[in-house]
Amino acid sequence: MDSKFLNHTRRSVVGFELIDFADSKEISSMRETLSVDTPTHIRWNDWEYGSEVRELRSLYEKGKANQWNASTDLDWETPVSKDEWMGELDMSLLANLLKMMGKSEAEQKAAMFDEVAYTCSQLLHGEQAALQLCGQLTSLCPTTDEKLYAANQVADEARHIEIFARLTGEKMGTIYPIMPTLKFLLDELLAVEGYHMKTLGMQTLFEGMAVGIMGMMREQAFNPLLVHLLQRAEQDEARHAAFGVFTMRRVVERAEPEERDQMEDWAFKVLEALNASQQLGMLHALGPKYGIDANQVTEGMLAMPEWRELNSQLYMHTVVPNLIRLGLITERTRDQWIACGMLVESQFSGKSVPLSS
Ligand SMILES: [Fe+2]
Ligand SMILES: [Fe+2]
Repeated sequence: MDSKFLNHTRRSVVGFELIDFADSKEISSMRETLSVDTPTHIRWNDWEYGSEVRELRSLYEKGKANQWNASTDLDWETPVSKDEWMGELDMSLLANLLKMMGKSEAEQKAAMFDEVAYTCSQLLHGEQAALQLCGQLTSLCPTTDEKLYAANQVADEARHIEIFARLTGEKMGTIYPIMPTLKFLLDELLAVEGYHMKTLGMQTLFEGMAVGIMGMMREQAFNPLLVHLLQRAEQDEARHAAFGVFTMRRVVERAEPEERDQMEDWAFKVLEALNASQQLGMLHALGPKYGIDANQVTEGMLAMPEWRELNSQLYMHTVVPNLIRLGLITERTRDQWIACGMLVESQFSGKSVPLSS
């Protein structure tokens, strides 16, 4: 088995194995592949409809109490314009680059607007995968609490599709196509066998990443609709990530050592591929419009001495600490995470710590 995904797309840049799809036909074909064969099956519960996992039942209760209506709880009349700063300069790589190039504020604002639309489009595509995967979990999970919780999350993900589709398509005017690496990985999650691997992939890895991306964007955003929308979605995603942690904690405790190693290796493999794409998807899509060379920028960033520190911020926000607590990043693999710029050594405890529930 290959230790990494998408080896045929990789090239080495200053020692970093960058994923860069050179073949546009391959990208089109991935996007056009709308059907995915998944080996899902149905698992009845054990006919005991009472609560078996108390922490999941209370998460389900929280989920019900915190439902909201995307149509009425957000002010869709709020203007969203290329002529306004969508957020702080640091929210946008493109705007930063244009500033360094001495370009006008109008161009910086427009580039930030486009980059926000691009990122929210990728979140939107991820939401569709979350909806579908969570639907699988309602069938696959063995306990009543997990099934009820997953059913509740399906409604959350439907709402997230609604808000990100409306923001990008209606308010910002463009839904950008899915990044090829993201499509590959989401297909991998949907097709992987077993509810514990699906829970690890979507609920722990991707929900953890979503909390990080939404949280970091929300802290820097100015546009009130974007801020409110991210706040709402982030609260839901934090609940979803908690499900991932609660469930995986029980799975990891019961797993044989080789099963645990397999989960640890797969978690690295999935996030390593996501990280290996860097921001090339966005830079290829939007760079030419602003006179920015995607490869030149990426190579320059990878060569920066502070690159590892900067790159790791998103991973250290939620997903990596959760994996460490779960015992799914151990001494055996931590150097790989550090080498890829996804883990900061000083914050690595090397052992799992209890999670509060
Ligand atoms: Fe979501
Ligand atoms: Fe979610």
